[in-house]
Amino acid sequence: MSDLPASISLREVGPRDGLQNEAPVPTEAKVELIDALSKTGVRRIEAVSFVHPRAIPQMADADEVWRRIARNDDVRYSALVPNLKGAQRALEAGFAEIEVVVSASDTHNRRNVNRGTDESLDDIAALIEVAHDAGRTVQVIVSTAWGCPYEGDVPVERVVAVAGRAVRDGADGISFGDTTGMATPGRVARVVGEFRSRHADVPLNLHFHNTRGTGLANVLTALELGVSDFDASVGGLGGCPYAPGATGNVASEELVHMVEDMGVATGVDLDALIDAAATAERIVGRTLPSQVLRAGPRTRTVTP
Ligand code: COA
Ligand code: ZN
Repeated sequence: MSDLPASISLREVGPRDGLQNEAPVPTEAKVELIDALSKTGVRRIEAVSFVHPRAIPQMADADEVWRRIARNDDVRYSALVPNLKGAQRALEAGFAEIEVVVSASDTHNRRNVNRGTDESLDDIAALIEVAHDAGRTVQVIVSTAWGCPYEGDVPVERVVAVAGRAVRDGADGISFGDTTGMATPGRVARVVGEFRSRHADVPLNLHFHNTRGTGLANVLTALELGVSDFDASVGGLGGCPYAPGATGNVASEELVHMVEDMGVATGVDLDALIDAAATAERIVGRTLPSQVLRAGPRTRTVTP
């Protein structure tokens, strides 16, 4: 355990990845949630996505959400986009950081964004140029990096090749997404190891879903490999469109709770984050899966 990073950077994705997989909530509620998260000490928030409103009605009010939140200068807000058109919307809205998503599995990419992986990669190359010309950064998210709900396992070679193409085209960073919770620690080590052996200096972020309960184990494995950028969603908000009733992302407060106790700094105030998780639970009106939200921090005591 001696080699863990001294600190990590958590990206809170509950307002986007979480809420897009929940029943739609009012704009006001999204603003309330992002504002609560902006006060927790978390330094990165994926606030919205600019996608077709027919594809994801939950994000139809992205512009309004972004206009109404109380922006904290210490927080880097980002927007997820599926294509150049989405990036243009994000640039117009004033986002400094864009995430563009492409699936390593061709079938998933077609179902998600209506085109093959190679076509998306061509679009992304153009998108990166446009964003860089405007002085903004682009992280390329390679989703289905540990498996696809249509194709099953996706070869590591394929995943790393898709990321490699994006790197050559100028991506400022790569994120590997475990879209449907198919990663386990050994598979995390293989993907991270293969990527690092070819692109040692490219910033790497990881995004795990806890669909099958391996989320924090995957985070720990990645930490031991020196990865220090992770996504998580407050309360474990979200679900999985391919598995009704399944759990969403790794819960932010569970991640913070675990790594802080191991001496890895996050900058996040755990109590404030747990309060934000309670807010998220109230907003979506259902019990969220986070166990730290239920039990509180490990140091919580009860009167004998
Ligand atoms: N936001 C809003 N509108 C968009 C758009 C975007 N990012 N991208 C394209 N459009 C519009 C086009 O302008 C065009 O409008 P028009 O008919 O008025 O001319 C129309 O959508 C069709 O454009 P096209 O490029 O053919 O898009 P498509 O129908 O093939 O849909 C996506 C592709 C990417 C827009 C759509 O599949 C999508 O939004 N997917 C998002 C999936 C997602 O968010 N998944 C979860 C996150 S990983
Ligand atoms: Zn996700």
